[in-house]
Amino acid sequence: MSAQPIAAALPEFPVKAASKPAVEMAALALRFPVGRGQTRTIFENLNLTIYHGEFVCILGETGCGKSTLLRMVLGEDRPTEGALSIFGQPVNGINRACGYVPQKYSLFPDRTVMQNLAFGPECTLGPFKRWTHRGRSFRGEVRTEALARLKQMGLQATDAAKYPHQLSGGMQQRVAIAQALMMKPAILLMDEAFSALDPNTRAGMQSLVHELWRETRTTIIFVTHNTHEAAYLASRLIVLAQRRNETGAPVGAEVMLDQIVPFAEETLAARRRRPEVADLVQRIERHSHGAFSAAEEPEAESR
Ligand SMILES: Nc1ncnc2c1ncn2[C@@H]1O[C@H](COP(=O)(O)OP(=O)(O)O)[C@@H](O)[C@H]1O
Ligand SMILES: [Mg+2]
Repeated sequence: MSAQPIAAALPEFPVKAASKPAVEMAALALRFPVGRGQTRTIFENLNLTIYHGEFVCILGETGCGKSTLLRMVLGEDRPTEGALSIFGQPVNGINRACGYVPQKYSLFPDRTVMQNLAFGPECTLGPFKRWTHRGRSFRGEVRTEALARLKQMGLQATDAAKYPHQLSGGMQQRVAIAQALMMKPAILLMDEAFSALDPNTRAGMQSLVHELWRETRTTIIFVTHNTHEAAYLASRLIVLAQRRNETGAPVGAEVMLDQIVPFAEETLAARRRRPEVADLVQRIERHSHGAFSAAEEPEAESR
């Protein structure tokens, strides 16, 4: 971590090694070819360790590399240099330890909610086993599991037969989280998962995910560019900032702030009333000059 204007102005809540590392990034670099032998550097010498059970919110201006960071953890983008490991294992290809929830369009539109939830687990059962006795009982277990996940996400058993277009945007995101949980991920990656929801729906979804974390202590890496959302949800808050060279060209994002957010154990309602957390929001907004403030209006939710 380099010198940080934000960190200097913040009270000290240092990051401590709370438990075993879940994600370790050591001297990571990621560059994309952009034609004519040129490359675009997204990360350069990125060092970051995320511990098991943390709720990490990653905040940063649009285009600084937040989604790319999640895609590296997921195994979709390979780092150009450096080491990336999940629970001590190097990431090679798609990493099954992670569940992924994007902003929208993660559900198959032509499948029911139940079929969407069952799809991942059923893919793990080869095509020939499907019609055996074991296959049938497995499908029964998947159904039971899917109904439990729907309930956990505040949906009804009757929603299982619906198609995504019959659900509101908020309900679709509940199904998307349930879908990610079906594979029992050790790490849940959420990329602007609530950014397309209206403010009320969004607040409800924040409480839901915060409760999920309090109950299960699943490691969550939650990307957002909303400061309030990050400070209210996170047990640890990381701010990424784009570094630029003398000519103003981007030369890779760096960790500008990395700190434990106090009172993570409290309910979200209690945290929202905490002056310390509101103070953190204000300080980040003041020092980021609005680059990722809550000022951005979310798109209205559509049915
Ligand atoms: N496959 C790719 N090839 C080239 N550039 C890419 C690719 N994927 C992402 N980028 C660039 O990387 C930068 C970071 O993108 P992204 O991670 O989506 O940012 P964020 O999620 O923070 O808004 C952007 O400038 C984007 O254009
Ligand atoms: Mg993004």
